[in-house]
Amino acid sequence: MSRIAYVDGVYRPHRDAAVHIEDRGYQFADGVYEVIAVRGGKLIDEELHLVRLRRSLAELRIDGALADAPLKVVLREVIRRNGVVNGIVYLQITRGIAPRDHAFPKAARPVLTVTARRARPTNPKVAEEGIDVITIPDIRWQRCDIKTIALVGNVLGKQQAREAGAYEAWMVDGKGHVTEGTSTNAWIVIGDNLVVTRPAENAILNGVTRQALIAIIRREGYEFTERAFTVAEAKTAREAFLTSTTSDVTPVVAIDGHPVANGVPGLLSQKLRADYLAHVAE
Ligand code: PDD
Repeated sequence: MSRIAYVDGVYRPHRDAAVHIEDRGYQFADGVYEVIAVRGGKLIDEELHLVRLRRSLAELRIDGALADAPLKVVLREVIRRNGVVNGIVYLQITRGIAPRDHAFPKAARPVLTVTARRARPTNPKVAEEGIDVITIPDIRWQRCDIKTIALVGNVLGKQQAREAGAYEAWMVDGKGHVTEGTSTNAWIVIGDNLVVTRPAENAILNGVTRQALIAIIRREGYEFTERAFTVAEAKTAREAFLTSTTSDVTPVVAIDGHPVANGVPGLLSQKLRADYLAHVAE
């Protein structure tokens, strides 16, 4: 089956799908995006993704994007045309096409692009054995709560992780507190099974997986607090894990080469992963 993409109102063969050279997404990273998991043909936590999308658009003052109802039709059509049962759907909305000028153009209208792809088979070892993270300075801007396509800081961080042989890099703010991973949220478990993650303020993206897991944690009655934690605290934590649409809940077993507890996935992390996967399968 050949791949199909949606570009500004038209379904096109993926290989020919392109945006205008003066699309503001291309020139200024002036746009937002979402990555939504597709499992068993269903979009996981679609409403939470759409709420976050609307918030990102409002924060960038991008008006006139396709409304939720027609957008949902496009997402489903791209998923259907690509035969995706398990995978992801990616959507991006930019401020539109206009002669290059930093200030908002008067006449541009938002450009929506959508692609979908089947999941690459995930290596079961990743969740069974856990993954390594490194820590790096957070060099990004002060509005990481907006899901913009301006990801070069995240790109550099992920590459640094790859070159260090790690799965992810946890970024650290000027006070020595972990903000988040380059494409994931960061969590630790300390003391008597207290789950800790950073509050969703401007320094991090409020992950949909994060939101879904917090709801599960509250429902199951686990001890939980939202506060910033230091790298030192993470290195001496009982457990650590990360979350995202594409990583679900994945145990972290080493930080900067230092094993977390005894260097194997923690029991609570594994339980939360199972609870999250049950939520996805619901
Ligand atoms: N990344 N933090 C950052 C910086 C992210 O880019 C992401 C998601 C997350 C987790 O958010 P969610 O649980 O909603 O996926 C946290 C997506 C998957 C990506 O850019 O591919």
